[in-house]
Amino acid sequence: MRTKYCGNIRIIDLHKSVILSGWVNKIRNFGQFIFIDMRDYTGIVQVIFELNNHTVFKKALSLKNESCIQIIGVVQKRDIKNQNLKLDTGDIEILAKKINIFNISQSLPLDYLNNNSDELRLKYRYLDLRKCSLFKNLKIRSQVTDLIRTFMTKKKFLDIETPLLTKSTPEGARDYLVPSRNYLGKFYALPQSPQLFKQLLMISGIDKYYQIVKCFRDEDLRSDRQPEFTQVDIETAFMSAVKIRKIIEQLIKKIWLTTLNYNLNKFPTISFHEAIKRYGSDKPDLRNPIEIVDIFNIFNKKKFIEFFKIDLSKKNRIALLCFPKGEQINRKKIEKYCNYVNQFGAKKLFYIKIKKYEIGKEGIESSIKKILSEVILNKIINKTSAKNGDILFIIADTEDIVNKSLGMLRIKLGNDFKIYQKNIWKPIWVINFPMFKKDNFGKFSSVHHPFTSCKKNHEKKLFNDLNNVLSDSYDLVINGYEIGGGSVRIHDAKIQKKIFNIIGLNEKDQKEKFGFLIEALKYGAPPHAGIALGLDRIIMLLRQTNNIRDVIAFPKTTSASCLMTKAPSILKDKDLNELGIKIIEK
Ligand code: AMO
Repeated sequence: MRTKYCGNIRIIDLHKSVILSGWVNKIRNFGQFIFIDMRDYTGIVQVIFELNNHTVFKKALSLKNESCIQIIGVVQKRDIKNQNLKLDTGDIEILAKKINIFNISQSLPLDYLNNNSDELRLKYRYLDLRKCSLFKNLKIRSQVTDLIRTFMTKKKFLDIETPLLTKSTPEGARDYLVPSRNYLGKFYALPQSPQLFKQLLMISGIDKYYQIVKCFRDEDLRSDRQPEFTQVDIETAFMSAVKIRKIIEQLIKKIWLTTLNYNLNKFPTISFHEAIKRYGSDKPDLRNPIEIVDIFNIFNKKKFIEFFKIDLSKKNRIALLCFPKGEQINRKKIEKYCNYVNQFGAKKLFYIKIKKYEIGKEGIESSIKKILSEVILNKIINKTSAKNGDILFIIADTEDIVNKSLGMLRIKLGNDFKIYQKNIWKPIWVINFPMFKKDNFGKFSSVHHPFTSCKKNHEKKLFNDLNNVLSDSYDLVINGYEIGGGSVRIHDAKIQKKIFNIIGLNEKDQKEKFGFLIEALKYGAPPHAGIALGLDRIIMLLRQTNNIRDVIAFPKTTSASCLMTKAPSILKDKDLNELGIKIIEK
């Protein structure tokens, strides 16, 4: 149906006869001539219809935007004055000799020239995808998956599929469930990840597994989360965490080099605790140069503790951010930032504006001026290397509140004042997460999943110091996005059972939910480790969009519905009966 693609025709094709198939992008009618911009997936070329070719001209008159057509024509040169430098094909055009109209389009419900509502765009996703930018996202996505497959195959990884109708694996979200017709009252769970299957493959002796695989999680959605998303899932036997991270680093570097022509430096590594201390986040965006500075030692006297209303029975922190755009932040803005940190639990946000440090206390403006002596001020300035023009934001509260609040304020200031360096990529490995977190009722749960091993020298702590056990885990973060996470796994049934006991899974539940894993671990399970990368998030970064929907062909809304197919949908009673399901109104 075609001999050439629209976007690929060049001056060397001059006088050649071509057959093109595609869509009408735009029509301009000049009476004697009709011009159309014709589009296919490679780009746009101008087609000209002349009045003297009567039949063809008449057909062209009936065209509407977005109609699907075939053109048989000849490549001709455009006059210099009519050339369009914005188009790769801008110095030529196609003189139409014949036109076949495959389908005249109705007026589109979307207006490509203006912003359309999200609802409309998702309802007519197939039309929205005709837009160049979304189409390009899918093209890059395809190139990246191709690159990943080639890379993994070269490294001798086997691409193995794992079941979608399976049993729940805890990854921190709710499962999507599928009722079984054969076993009334029983359900399959769609996998939150292939975690247990990939571990079982290691026990099978597969050695190196990977899969580009759909995962399903029923959780609160955000701009970087979808209920079904894609992982590059990886598992290896007999390989250290360091070696796995090295392979992933090579892969990510290759993706960035091939797609963006960007050379990533060696990825630094930071422990979870250090990341929280310095950035208030386990996914720090290192493009933002500001770090949290601890000043508890400067304010550890009784009068300060009282001033800051610190409750010494808790783990506390006094810390600050030193921000260089102090002059631009007036009282009103400070008030706004104070309200902002309130939502993360911080009662107050104190500040010191450094205007003329050389003249001492008189040279500053501060909400804590009355407790600031020259000595204290000097100590703070020395510790932060603050300069004239800077503003210091201080929070004194429990450790968790200070970390969270200053961490979020760091991001907000970075965004508000656009201090991020553009087109810069800052990857970092965050390692050694705590093994467990404790809820308000004292119940422990796993920070990563419960199949994660603790650090080698932390096994004893599983018996006497649960708050301080570190896991042998690692997350890959780029520009503040967590794009991957993994760990060394437990390969000993006894330790696995111990972890289940710690997180409150009784014998019966252990057997029912994970009996197959515990048993498999008894048959010579090898040491193994792995990781999963979030493919959608990688493409989001590469395409510099902050909405995950932009890189998925048919995404869901933030309330997990599909506006195009109207899924999820109501089932007829007959179908529900067959599954033994009765709907109870809430
Ligand atoms: P984890 O739960 O950290 O680990 O997931 C791995 C990566 O998957 C991406 N991701 C998501 N992307 C889009 N939408 C979501 N809802 C979503 N949830 C997660 C993130 C994340 O870093 N089985 C383990 C991996 C392992 O231990 O090997 C797992 O799934 O980029």
